[in-house]
Amino acid sequence: MIIKPIIQGVVARSAHPLGCQQSVLNQIEYVKNAPQVADGPKKVLVLGASSGFGLASRISVAFGGSQADTIGVSFERGPSDKGVGTAGWYNNVFFREEAEKQGLIAKNFVGDAFSQDMRDHVVAYIQNEFGGSVDLVVYSLATGVRPNPETGELWRSSIKTVGEPVSGPTINIELDTLESMDVETASEDELEATVKVMGGEDWESWITMLSNAGVMAKGCKTVAYSYVGPEVTYPIYHHGTLGRAKAHLHGTADLLNDRLKALDGEAYVSVCKALVTKASVFIPAFSPYILSLFKVMKENGTHEGCIEQMQRLFADRLYGNTAHVPVDDARLIRVDDWELDPETQQAVKALMAKMTAENFHQIGDYEGYKLDFLQLNGFGYNNVNYNARVNMDKMLLLQP
Ligand code: NAI
Repeated sequence: MIIKPIIQGVVARSAHPLGCQQSVLNQIEYVKNAPQVADGPKKVLVLGASSGFGLASRISVAFGGSQADTIGVSFERGPSDKGVGTAGWYNNVFFREEAEKQGLIAKNFVGDAFSQDMRDHVVAYIQNEFGGSVDLVVYSLATGVRPNPETGELWRSSIKTVGEPVSGPTINIELDTLESMDVETASEDELEATVKVMGGEDWESWITMLSNAGVMAKGCKTVAYSYVGPEVTYPIYHHGTLGRAKAHLHGTADLLNDRLKALDGEAYVSVCKALVTKASVFIPAFSPYILSLFKVMKENGTHEGCIEQMQRLFADRLYGNTAHVPVDDARLIRVDDWELDPETQQAVKALMAKMTAENFHQIGDYEGYKLDFLQLNGFGYNNVNYNARVNMDKMLLLQP
């Protein structure tokens, strides 16, 4: 069949397998040629491994100097009579293929990372087939729902403000328009549920469970990802429900860091740059900032995508020759440093002030934003022939 992009609002309803393969290959190529990760991890578990920062982390530790064996957990759908499957499914397949070509283990678990069943499978695999322990756990899940482990009831996150409502322009990728939207104030219940879904509780429970099972190696590290951003975005992010959840995540890093001392281990949160991912396009009123940021950072030559961010994180911050992992006053790793550079932010603010529904294509980097979105789903690569038929019978045989 011929596969075309189908976009509804900010959700992609189709994915191109060969474009996803190209995306994985490009990221591998990038990390092979970038400054390498020295003294890196060798046995890595990535929770949320199929896209965005998690996939980039996995590619970085496997191909960026450390040659790590990896286990990836993700929630994805393969091809069936209902559709071609999700981009993350193909990312898993093609990552594994490339890793195996290099003689690396790349085990994929596709299913619900919140379930006990998944935890049991992962632990059994580490114990029986992965050498008995992991020396790095990357926590990169992004989701809108998490079941309460005790009752099974679902907590649902809300991307809302805390305090005052705000309104602001937001991109509609389907229609290529900039529309005004109101972001409501969260209720106490919504705020609490968002912290449950996107805060640190599940990260803590994974690390506790792995430690109790004796599969965290001596000297192990764990890292989760966060966003802070500049003041212009505070009402919708840092001071909103997501920011509250991230504050909880930051606190969890300190708690886990204390607990892991018994193993000479360490826990960190890395604050990353704003990027287009399957998760971030849902953040209302955030896109004008990203459009302006991309424009300025590309002009300055400081723009990075997920893979550049993760390679810099592992090569320059978490591993390498430094005696200590460099952190800020709040013990956070800051790979958002180039984003928050004062001159960059001044230029971004000036662009945002000028941006309207008529001129956002010229003022901001809408072309880059849309291309990133298409490429997340395997579209928009020059060297993929999108007019050629994809043999779905062959795709159906691929296993993650
Ligand atoms: P993403 O949507 O690209 O990836 C999320 C991953 O979680 C996927 O692998 C997905 O399969 C997996 N997942 C979701 N629910 C699952 C479940 N129930 N069981 C198993 N796997 C599940 O997201 P992205 O943007 O890479 O986010 C990862 C982290 O990075 C999040 O904590 C996010 O807040 C953070 N971050 C994102 C930024 C951005 O601009 N995108 C900026 C800074 C931090």
